[in-house]
Amino acid sequence: MMSQSQLLAAKIVEQVLLGKNLDKSFQLVLKKYNNEEENLSQIKDMTYGAIRDLGKSNFYINSLVKNKIENLCLEALLHIVLFQINHSRSNDFTLVNQAVDAAKKIDHKKSSFINAVLRNFLRNKDSLQKQLKENQSAMFSYPNWWIEKVKKQYPKNWEDILNIGNQHPPLALRVNSKKIKIKDYSDTLRKQRIDHTLVSDECLIIRKPLDVNKIPGFLDGKVSVQDLGAQLAAHIIDLKENQKVLDACSAPGGKACHMLELNEIQLTAIESDNQRTLKINNNIKRQGFKAKVLNETINNQNEWWDKQYFDRILLDVPCSATGIVRRHVDIKWLRRINDFQNFADNQLFLLKAAWPMLKDGGKLLYVTCSIFEEENRGVIEKFKQGIDNVSEIDIVFPSNITHIKNQVLPSDNHDGLFYALLQKN
Ligand SMILES: C[S@@+](CC[C@H](N)C(=O)[O-])C[C@H]1O[C@@H](n2cnc3c(N)ncnc32)[C@H](O)[C@@H]1O
Repeated sequence: MMSQSQLLAAKIVEQVLLGKNLDKSFQLVLKKYNNEEENLSQIKDMTYGAIRDLGKSNFYINSLVKNKIENLCLEALLHIVLFQINHSRSNDFTLVNQAVDAAKKIDHKKSSFINAVLRNFLRNKDSLQKQLKENQSAMFSYPNWWIEKVKKQYPKNWEDILNIGNQHPPLALRVNSKKIKIKDYSDTLRKQRIDHTLVSDECLIIRKPLDVNKIPGFLDGKVSVQDLGAQLAAHIIDLKENQKVLDACSAPGGKACHMLELNEIQLTAIESDNQRTLKINNNIKRQGFKAKVLNETINNQNEWWDKQYFDRILLDVPCSATGIVRRHVDIKWLRRINDFQNFADNQLFLLKAAWPMLKDGGKLLYVTCSIFEEENRGVIEKFKQGIDNVSEIDIVFPSNITHIKNQVLPSDNHDGLFYALLQKN
């Protein structure tokens, strides 16, 4: 029933309005109220869509409602239904009637309020949509500070970057060419009528979302889910046979498996989060690789380290994830402007902690999925200023990658990432 889906979606969005993570809230609410699969994709579309569009629905609600809405779940329901009215093919009045039923389950007395606000919206939709164009945060659906930051750092590309962040994310697959040729895999997809585009020698993109377990060849490790931009790491790091490689922040192990796929290496994967370490193990097992996977922490002591220096270190640090906002639509509302300094401090700390484990002449690849320079060039420059045994190697990006220097910009085909390749002198 639609009103039940609207109700569950509202409970999920309410959690995000309270500052909680969307993916986790989605899992928690569904576990609590509903275990049926059938409405899952509908609820997912509604919640992720409503959060993506929150800047717009905030504008509509503020224009239509004078006082603050005390019940956050009711406010969340309005976000959901406004999103549906603006995007779904269902009849507007049917959606409103269903929302009134959902509202009754949240607060019976307030269902007439929801009815009034939504009908008011329908009456004034055209003029409100015109007014919305005058309001930058509503128009692009990001907080103002985020828009200003992107404008300042990307005076030429800011609008594209913001718009791409509001798109549905592409589903990119990495084909293990040791197991199947990409052409043959593409034929398999074609036979199963799965629309896709080849975007590199090992990557193809499926535009329509598909459950991972339904991806042909996924369970037996012929293909993995990995963004085209992220697939650059295993190439840029410049691996040679038998090298000792450290993947310092490894979970869920996407880049680790790609490195193992391309080269015979001795890989140590370190991950500080216990649950996420299990994901590395699963990933490695699915693809039939061997590696030393440790639930440990990169820090000043590195007590887990056997003092054997590494030829290569991949340092894919925790970051603001602003380059993958279309995959994590809640980020733009949950991040605070001060977060960037904290991320940058930790990133510099991790660089300094990993560096002593690198062999002389060895290479360290620093990666973030952020688009902001504080976490990217800013961290690298600070690190380089602090020591004298480092030089930076220029990275040559493939022609199908949109980038400005080391910054890969989010595009139709790939996420936004930053890469810096450092060598120990
Ligand atoms: C950006 S993710 C890595 C993604 C991974 N490289 C991949 O391609 O699948 C960063 C990871 O680093 C882990 N992490 C954070 N601080 C760490 C530390 N001090 N030592 C080890 N792992 C850490 C986080 O838990 C997170 O799983």
